[in-house]
Parts: sequence; structure tokens; C-alpha cells
Amino acid sequence: MADTRATAAAPATPVVTRRSDYAPPAWQVPQVALDVALDPLATRVRARLEVVRSGAHDEPLRLDGAGQVPLAVRVDGIAVDDWRIVGGQLVLALPGEAHVIETEVEIAPDRNTQLMGLYASGGILCTQCEAEGFRRITWFPDRPDVLSTYRVRMTADKARFPVLLANGDPVAAGDNADGTHWAEWHDPYPKPSYLFALVAGNLAVNRGTFTTRSGRVVDLGIWVRAADLARTGHALHALQLAMAWDERVYGREYDLDVFNIVAVDDFNFGAMENKGLNIFNSRYILADPDTATDWDYDAIAAVVAHEYFHNWSGNRITCRDWFQLSLKEGFTVYRDQGFSADQGSAAVKRIEDVRGLRAAQFPEDAGPLAHPVRPESYIEIGNFYTATIYNKGAELIRMMATILGPERFRAATDLYFDRFDGTAATCEDFVACMEEAGGVDLTRFRLWYSQAGTPRVSATLDHQPGSGRATLHLAQKVPDTPGQTHKQPQVLPLRLRLFGAETGRPLGDERLVILSDTAASITFETVTERPVVSLNRGFSAPVVIDSDRSAADLAFLARHDDDPFARYEAMQQLMLDTLVAATVEGEADHAAVIAAVADTLDDPTLDRAFVAEAVLLPAESFIGDQLSTVDPEAIFQAREALRRDLGRALDARWRAACDPALRRPFAYTPEDKGIRRLRNVALGYVAASGAADAPALAYAQFEAADNMTDRHGALTTLVGGRSAQRDAALDVFYHRYAGNALVLDKWFQTQALSPLEDTPALVAELAQHPDFTLANPNRARALIGAFGANQRAFHADGGDGYRWLADQLLALDALNPQTAAKLLPPLGRWRRFDPVRADRMRAELARIVATPDISKDLFEQASKSLE
Ligand code: ARG
Ligand code: ZN
Repeated sequence: MADTRATAAAPATPVVTRRSDYAPPAWQVPQVALDVALDPLATRVRARLEVVRSGAHDEPLRLDGAGQVPLAVRVDGIAVDDWRIVGGQLVLALPGEAHVIETEVEIAPDRNTQLMGLYASGGILCTQCEAEGFRRITWFPDRPDVLSTYRVRMTADKARFPVLLANGDPVAAGDNADGTHWAEWHDPYPKPSYLFALVAGNLAVNRGTFTTRSGRVVDLGIWVRAADLARTGHALHALQLAMAWDERVYGREYDLDVFNIVAVDDFNFGAMENKGLNIFNSRYILADPDTATDWDYDAIAAVVAHEYFHNWSGNRITCRDWFQLSLKEGFTVYRDQGFSADQGSAAVKRIEDVRGLRAAQFPEDAGPLAHPVRPESYIEIGNFYTATIYNKGAELIRMMATILGPERFRAATDLYFDRFDGTAATCEDFVACMEEAGGVDLTRFRLWYSQAGTPRVSATLDHQPGSGRATLHLAQKVPDTPGQTHKQPQVLPLRLRLFGAETGRPLGDERLVILSDTAASITFETVTERPVVSLNRGFSAPVVIDSDRSAADLAFLARHDDDPFARYEAMQQLMLDTLVAATVEGEADHAAVIAAVADTLDDPTLDRAFVAEAVLLPAESFIGDQLSTVDPEAIFQAREALRRDLGRALDARWRAACDPALRRPFAYTPEDKGIRRLRNVALGYVAASGAADAPALAYAQFEAADNMTDRHGALTTLVGGRSAQRDAALDVFYHRYAGNALVLDKWFQTQALSPLEDTPALVAELAQHPDFTLANPNRARALIGAFGANQRAFHADGGDGYRWLADQLLALDALNPQTAAKLLPPLGRWRRFDPVRADRMRAELARIVATPDISKDLFEQASKSLE
């Protein structure tokens, strides 16, 4: 019989699920009725499944279950005991074409530390079912291609759980004589079990409405603890904006009379798109100026939009199997990126997204956990909610949109939504719609779904002076990744333009070149002066470009390119070339970078948010990605030296940008956000210059701030150095926000990201702090995740950081395998480091793999990272 450990622990030979093994379900379950008697320690779940044989076969019915025991099984009203548990499935032979199956189980949400299935968070009972959590609630064919309509009845103590929510529309509610009450909800849209949700708790609501373009008045509700109600306005407003945007941009209208969002503090990821009842990590709902940064505000709007957009790209059309995960996630990320771009500066949004891609996805694609956007196999699907599935997946959609152009892309998404509405579809279905409505052949483009690895493109521009012509030679290579060698060239849409080096003027229009062979040459006419090429504008293809452009040409583009992303990119490349040279040689000439940064700061036509992004140096980890062997200390020193020189050389400009006189009362507008962003970057440079008054300046900003962006920016700068003000600010911050978990997360995270030498010791100490707990994923990520991302601290000599991380992962794994497995990848980068570090990292991975009873989540990540 099913028992918790047996299903959670890594089997000796882990079960591998393969895409090629897909077979349609033998039985469908058109209708489900659940009767849930909620109790934190003993919840009774009675399930009534109407099952129908699908096709002609004599397969038994197989129901998934994990962590609970069937107390009773009935077929057509009659108790049976001729079922077996095989490999975690309840197997039941059925004679007819259609039957009613009833089961009953008891589960204990209070003891559920995995936060999958039904669990308790701060006294609220809630569910998380994607990908395979529903089987922890009841026995069911827990796979996304089984679509059912759900009727849910909940009963709970009325005093403790006055609010009872589930998917769809409320149908009826009432009180019982024993102090309990009940509510019934019905969701008319057939859905897979991973979209099931219920919530019971003492919740307050911020209500709003949205009237759809066809006149449906939708009641919106953001449900939180009463104390948090004042911080829900931004999320509600973002939801209304997202609903309008999806109508305008994709023609997608909401389809129920209610849309509820519940925020809980304990959540394994960002949020979940359950039909009509989204459940969120409270960090992506709660905001006010005193506690949330501009980054938080933006992220809240993006995640609220993302989950809302899933109503069509995910719920109305879901995934046939989990290998198709990017069908909903890649497309929905692309959609939320478009939404965010429309709220402010599209260029800055693109820069942020590319920064994120390079920080998370490129390293994944270059490491032991590399996998295609449509994977071929997995041990634990929870490990495949990755930057590759989400963010590279979004880049694939973006490339198809670029190839099709806006009108044909919209026709293609219309066709997709129309044709596959109400079904469980595949990535192939989506691409076929792009081809059909777009009138293009995407045969070779499909390689993006099957080949892992980031393509590298080399570009050389050949100009014969006086000829009026220039030729661009392009060549591509898709690198080997685990299990994949000798790859075929992919289809790369590259937006290009030439500029004249003397006049700074464009030489001809922008061109879209589709590179689909190993190499190609493109000829440009009317080249009347020496040309400089602007490549991969807007980051039109998610590739690495190797070009031989000189520092002078890059500085030229940083000044003259008319594509803001390309302008940013030229500056980044110039900085990167300088920093790589400095890391390898111990020093480099900083003059070109300083001049380009000065010009950018001085250009009054540029918006401040763009300027703030453009003058930021590439991250230490991204510099490391350019080197054959990462030397964390040399990278840190090279970057600090450039920061110091930039700080000194442009001191007056930085001081002007963080001048207290520029402060004005907080407003969440694109313009004010830009001013704040540049202010914090500038403050960082003043501190980097070593100016004696920098700590005082930062502390003054910290104290005078009327918003978290300014306060947290000042704290970050202080925590990056040593001063009396540093300790004072940490102390004031801690006491001011004691009791606010989301802000305390920032307190932990900021310290774990500090570049100071004693960060590893400090982090180990913080893990003993009374406010630290592994039980809350946000807190665990704030300390452990941030430390793993701190290249200098994590890789500090001696390997203490590796051992500490492995210890934390093992401790966390016993509670929450999904969150533990997500924090492992920094240890898997050993191939990129010197033999001493590599050996120590591998030793920790080996220790994890050898630990008895670890989860299959952690086992998969650690064992693949060792290969
Ligand atoms: N579908 C959710 C989203 O909007 C995330 C669910 C994550 N599930 C998991 N098992 N990691 O992206
Ligand atoms: Zn999603």
C-alpha cells in the first residue's frame, strides 16, 4: 500500500518517464465530485469519479495516489476490495464502459511540509497541485490530458475557516448545527487535476470588478489576512490592467463570473493559475511604498498578469503531457513580457529579460542540467520548471513572432486558441498553427524545441573601401550538451543594421536575416563610409555573438545605435571585453568604458531607467561565463577596480544622480522609477570610489527614504562595505520590519549577497538566527539561494560554502524536496572551475547522492550534476 516515504524517497533505480512513451489515457473522467471535510490534522476527502472507457481495450483503471491510503473504494455504489496498489497506483479492473468510482481518504494538511497537495500556511488551508500534487489529495488519474468538470463541497469549522473558496462559481453555502459550515463550488470548464484548488481560512478581501468587452461583469477578489489588506491595491489594479490587455492584444476574454486570488506565505514558487482561483506566494501580491521596492511592484504586476493569462494559455488549452510544459509556460511568459513592456519602457523591459536569461538560462544550457525546451525524459517533473522551459521557451515564441510579423502572429494565435480550445495540446500543435496562419515553413525552426544548448554565432564584417559594399560573414555552432552531440544548425532570426563610422548615420534600413545554415554571407549595398554593424538587435535570437568589433566600434554603437537594446548591448560588450581582459591579465585600460558611461549619463534624451541599466557592469557570474576557467576572486577584483575608477572619474555625475534634492514624494510612475533606479546605481558608484563620505551619504538616504526602493538601495550599498553605518542600518532595518516576513527576507538576502570577505561566515551565522527557518521557502531562498548566487562568497577558498550548501540542501530535502532541488544548481557548475574547487564541489554532490532516503527531486539534480 502507498506509504509516504516509499513514494517520496529515491528508488534504487529511479523511474524515468520518457516523452516517447506517451499513450493516451485508457479511461477518461468527465465528472468529479469532491466532498472535503477540512481539518488541519484529519481531513476526509470523499471523491466520486464518473469514469468512461476511452477506446476499445481491456486496461484496468489506474489512479495515482501519494501519501494517503484508500479507506474505502466503491464501484457503482458497492464496496470492493479487488484493487491493488502497483507502483503507487491504485489498479482496478472494471467490466463496463462507464462506472462511478468512489474513494475515501484521510490526509493531514498540518503535517504537509512539502507544500504540495493540501497544506496549511499560517492557519490557511490551501492547495498546490501542479504538477503532481492532486494525487496527494485523492486517488485520481493525475495527468494533464484527463479533463473533468469539478463539483466541490467543503465543510470546515466556521470560526477558524470562515471563508471557503474553490474553482469556478459558488453554488450554495450554509451552516451546520455543530459549528461547522459548508460551501459548494462548481467549475463548468473541464480541467486537468493540476488546476484544482481550494482554500479555507480567515481571510479578508479587496474586491473589484472588471467588465469584459462582451459585457460580463466579473467579481474580482484578492484574499489575504486582514492585516495585509491595505497592501493589495497594486495587485488588484494590475489584474484589471491584465484583463483589459489580453482582450486588446490577444482578443482573449475572461470566462467566469468570479476571479479570486489568495495570497499565502508558504509557497514553493511564484504563483499558480488554478481555474478561477489563483493561489499566490504573498511576495507577488503584497505591496506598499514602505515595504516593497519598485522591483517588487513590477514583479507583482508581471506575475498577476502571467497567472491571469494562463486562463487561456494553460487552462482553456492545457498540455497533453508534462513534456509540453513550455507550451503553456513559454507562451505565457512571452505574453507577460509583452504586458510589462506596455506598462513602461519596452527597451528597459527587454534589457531586464535578457539580463535574466543570461543569468539563469544560459548557464543552465551550458551545464550538466541542460535540457531541450521540450525535454525527452525526467525523473521528477518538478525539476523541469526551469529557465529553459520558461524563459528560453518565451524566446522561441518571440522568434516566431518576429518571423511572422505582428499581424500574422496574431492570426496564428487566434487560430491556436480557436482550434485547441478545451483540449490538451502539444508544442507541435502550436508551431503548426504558426506555420498555417503565418504562411511559413517552420520545419527547421522546430530544432529549437529538441536541441539543448545556446547557439554561438560568429560575425565578421568585410568592407572594401570605395566599393560601396560590405559583406557580413555569419557562422553558427550549437554546442554539445549532455546526451546531445553533433547538432544541426538552427534557425536564427537576426535583426541587423549598418551605421556609418564617420557620420554616425544608418546605412540603409534594418534587415531581418534568417540564418538557418552553418554559415552565410550577407551583402549590403550603398555602404558609403566605413560601416559598423549592429547585430541581433532587440536580442532577436537568444544566442551568444562572437564578433571582432573593436572597443572603438562598440563605444560608437553605444552612442549612435538607434535600437536601445543594441545600444545597451554594445556598452555591455565593451565592459565585458574590458573585464575579461582585466581578469586574465590583471589589469586593463578603463578609458573607453569611462568615456562611454559618461556619454550615456550626459545624454538628456535617454530615460533614466535605461541609463541606470546601461551603466551597470555585467554580473560577476556572467563575466565568469566568458572564461574557460572561472577565477571568482580575480573577477571580483577586476570588477571592483573598474567600479572604483568609474566612481572616481565620474564622481560629480554620480553625486548629481543621487542628490537628495532630486528626491520627491513616492510615486509609482515610469519616470520616478527611473530616477530611483539611477539613484541607487549612482550611490553604489560613489561608495565604490572609496569616498570617505559615502557611508554617511548612504545612511542619509536610508533614513530619509519614504519608500523601500531608496531604503533598500541604500542598505545594499552599506552592506557592500564596512562602516559603522552598515551595522546601524542593518539593526534599524531589522527592528523596523520585525514581523513583516517579506521585508525580513530582504534583510537576509541582502547580507547573503554581500561581496565582503566574511560573507560565508555571516551566512552560516544567519542560518542560526531565530528568524531563519527552512520551513518557509521564501526565507530559505533568501539566504541559501542568494548565497549560491554570490559567486565570490560561495566559491571562497576552502570550500566551506560548498559544504554548508550541501548541509542545508539535505536538511531542507527532508521537509521540502522541490525547494531543496531548486537550490542545488550552483554546486553543479564544477566543470567551470579549477580542479581544487571542482573536486570539492563534486565531493559534496557525491555526499548528497550517497545519503540514504533523499527525495527523487534532489537525487535527480545531484546525480545529473555529477555526470
Ligand atoms: N504554473 C505555475 C506558473 O505559473 C507554476 C507551477 C510550478 N510548479 C512546480 N511544480 N514547480 O508558472
Ligand atoms: Zn506559468
